[in-house]
Amino acid sequence: MGDVMDWGMKNRLSRIIQKDGHTVMLAIDHGYFLGPTTGLEKPWKTIEPLVPYADCLMPTRGILRNCIPPDIDKPIVLRVSGGTSILNENLLHEGIIASIEDAIRLNVSGLAFSILVGAKYERDTLLTFSEICDMGQEYGIPVLAVTAVGREMVRDAKYLALASRIAAEIGAHMVKTYYCEGFEKVVEGCPVPIVIAGGKKIPERDALEMAYNAIQAGAAGVDMGRNIFQSSNPPAMIQAVRAVVHENATPDEAYEIFQQGGKE
Ligand code: R5P
Repeated sequence: MGDVMDWGMKNRLSRIIQKDGHTVMLAIDHGYFLGPTTGLEKPWKTIEPLVPYADCLMPTRGILRNCIPPDIDKPIVLRVSGGTSILNENLLHEGIIASIEDAIRLNVSGLAFSILVGAKYERDTLLTFSEICDMGQEYGIPVLAVTAVGREMVRDAKYLALASRIAAEIGAHMVKTYYCEGFEKVVEGCPVPIVIAGGKKIPERDALEMAYNAIQAGAAGVDMGRNIFQSSNPPAMIQAVRAVVHENATPDEAYEIFQQGGKE
């Protein structure tokens, strides 16, 4: 059965990753370096109709406390790295922006921290990430590593497999990375579940195809933001993504769901 801490860790992970081994995480943390991102100016207005279709939400503590009602029954993966903005040339040189005590007070199910493999501040972010993993381990809270990619870096399978594997080696319980050609290699080399970020807004059919390809390559799911909340119909889009992740829908089937305005 494992000890109590082990139970807590597994319980929280099972709230994030559903019984089918998959998850639709809704990323709404963009403001921590981008400010009032398009679509998230009034966070709850955008998020409320999406919540029923998300398995998990990923905000910062400021948005969680101020904009999300405490009685929602969804697990929270809390963004705990930050400290630089889009205006800073050292964007992504992040440190800890929320304590483990506050994360526990907020009753979160996971902690998310960005690492910057292969860039100038690699060592700083990896060592701080290892501290977050120790904290998560101590209190039974899983840690999601976000493999941030600098502006000048290539998002190919070789690089993303390297970054994802390093995250897992240091102690990540889950990894969030980008989809790429040959994504199977990224999944194969990473011993913990992988979710993909959506990245910049692209046409809905393309985003659904990307999610589909990631799932077929072995991803556990998505941690998607802009391609959902910046869609022309966010509730329909998240339902289409959900069909890909949980029901094995093809891109065409999922796009049909989107075009119909959702499943019901
Ligand atoms: C970036 O590090 C943030 O966690 C974003 O929220 C994340 O990349 C997911 O959002 P999107 O699907 O918009 O890329």
